[in-house]
Amino acid sequence: MDEETPESLEALEARVMGEIAAAADAQALEAVRVAALGKKGAVSLRMRVLGRMAPEERQRAGAALNALKERLNAALAARRAALAKAALSDRLAREWLDLTRPPRPEPRGSIHPVSQVTEEVVAIFADLGFSVAEGPEIENDFYSFDALNIPPEHPARQDFDTFYMYRTEGEAGEQRNLRPHTSPVQIRAMQAQGAPIRVIAPGRVYRCDYDLTHTPMFHQVEGLAIDRDISMAHLKWVLEEFCRAFFELDGVELRFRASHFPFTEPSAEVDIRCSWEGGQLRLGQGDDWMEILGSGMVHPKVLQAGGIDPTVYQGFAFGMGIDRIAMLKYGMPDLRAFFDSDLRWLRHYGFAPLDIPTLHGGLSR
Ligand code: PHE
Repeated sequence: MDEETPESLEALEARVMGEIAAAADAQALEAVRVAALGKKGAVSLRMRVLGRMAPEERQRAGAALNALKERLNAALAARRAALAKAALSDRLAREWLDLTRPPRPEPRGSIHPVSQVTEEVVAIFADLGFSVAEGPEIENDFYSFDALNIPPEHPARQDFDTFYMYRTEGEAGEQRNLRPHTSPVQIRAMQAQGAPIRVIAPGRVYRCDYDLTHTPMFHQVEGLAIDRDISMAHLKWVLEEFCRAFFELDGVELRFRASHFPFTEPSAEVDIRCSWEGGQLRLGQGDDWMEILGSGMVHPKVLQAGGIDPTVYQGFAFGMGIDRIAMLKYGMPDLRAFFDSDLRWLRHYGFAPLDIPTLHGGLSR
């Protein structure tokens, strides 16, 4: 700008209007406003000299300056609005969300069928008033056998194919074993809680056996209900109720077969109707039966070993194969695959980690 010949009002207006149009963002626009209309801005400085003018001239120049100020303010406001709008569209374009995408990423892991089925079993029995009891996997002869009315010379000891802990010749202390069933938890629960009692005890058990439906480690859930007047009818009702809820299938057919266990009298084994057609395991149809549990009325000697008076109390117990009922429900033909840790198998048969089984929401969806 030339000091001697001050910029004409028209030139000033044209220049500032140009600067307004060129301002790239709110900050640049504010700088233009301050330079023109701020306290020491070009327009404000001209306002200041009005006082020194003759009245007529002042009136004319003042009106012109005020009109200019108004036009500049209007142009500033328009530009400000345009810049804000552009900034918003820019943000919307950048922060665009594809709502057709799944709400969260596909989970990488999955829940193993044994864990899933254990949760399902616990949910059903919790609804029937059973709480969960636990015991050690490394047991001793007392809990695995003696307390369950299986004395050392009893042939049933062989039936269990028990793994014994290695002991050197003459080693002191008790003989220990990997529990071959969850029944030891019956004794431990009775000792700890007394009667009446209603518990289930899910957990790992061990037997020396290996084929399509047997692995050396597998899972059982023990059930125990003791009170003053519990009968075989209660046992049958509970098991039927359980199977109906668990298999989520009309027409699940159970077969109660008279059997023998040293720790129950009378005893019954329960089979479920299934077919193995084409290597595919199907439930509720076919001519095959798969044994899923052993059960019976708790033997008086077992109650005694648990510290409960058999003249006052009686009850039922059962032991069910968790892996077995998992195979049946989800159609998995080979138990050994459960423990191969093959990710392809786990992805195929596994369960979504956040779908916790509940009776209300559906056990398996
Ligand atoms: N413990 C038995 C088994 O493993 C099952 C069972 C439990 C039978 C309780 C009757 C009562 O074969």
